[in-house]
Amino acid sequence: MSRKPIIAANWKMHKGPAEAVEFIEEFDNLIGDSSPVDIVLAPAFVSLSASKQALVNSELVQLASQNCHFEQQGAFTGEISIGMLQEIGVDYVIIGHSERRCIFGEDDGLINQKAKALHAADVKPIICIGETLDERDNDQVESVLRRQLTEGLMELDSDKMLDSVIAYEPVWAIGTGRTASPEQAQEAHRFTREVIGEIFGEDVSSKIRIQYGGSVKPENTEELMSQADVDGALVGGAGLDPVSFSEICKNTKV
Ligand code: 13P
Repeated sequence: MSRKPIIAANWKMHKGPAEAVEFIEEFDNLIGDSSPVDIVLAPAFVSLSASKQALVNSELVQLASQNCHFEQQGAFTGEISIGMLQEIGVDYVIIGHSERRCIFGEDDGLINQKAKALHAADVKPIICIGETLDERDNDQVESVLRRQLTEGLMELDSDKMLDSVIAYEPVWAIGTGRTASPEQAQEAHRFTREVIGEIFGEDVSSKIRIQYGGSVKPENTEELMSQADVDGALVGGAGLDPVSFSEICKNTKV
């Protein structure tokens, strides 16, 4: 089964509008006119509009936001609705990132509400899962991933799952310089695909793309991306620099 790799840069709380545009102009020159992989940038909310304008002539790069609220509107101070993101032209929304789970207390139920709202609006979610170091040390990787998938993807529509993306990001590998070994990544991705198969069936499990995230760099991209069930990367730190992000895209062999 060949799945087109998807490489996304999650800029987290970095880059205001001016820096976002500067990155895009430099990246555009580095990446050229075509790429065999899907490329996605996830700027902060305030940089989405400027990024979209800077990407107006780009057919290569798509836009993601890093979060959303599940309600269409209302008294939710500080939140952003999916409709607002659609108005800007966002293609994907990252939900369930471990920083949202750990720092802001988001749980699988909330992530499920966001996934349902995104599907209803025809916006593609990038749904993050992954275990902490404690959970890995206590042999809980599979039980944690199974819980996050079962509860986070509860009652979602199979057809919409085909366009959704899962990002496996072991929390202990995020921003630590400690990457999962290609074998560890493959094993977690294989298991994730198996659980998705149990929930949504063979068609979805064979087609859905599962990204790896956690200290991805140009140097470790090729080996990680060549694993059978690894279909791309969700990049943090190395995605802030246009040179290293373009190398990660180019080092992903299709
Ligand atoms: P790093 O690539 O900085 O480890 O971050 C990964 C991540 O959290 C992407 O969402």
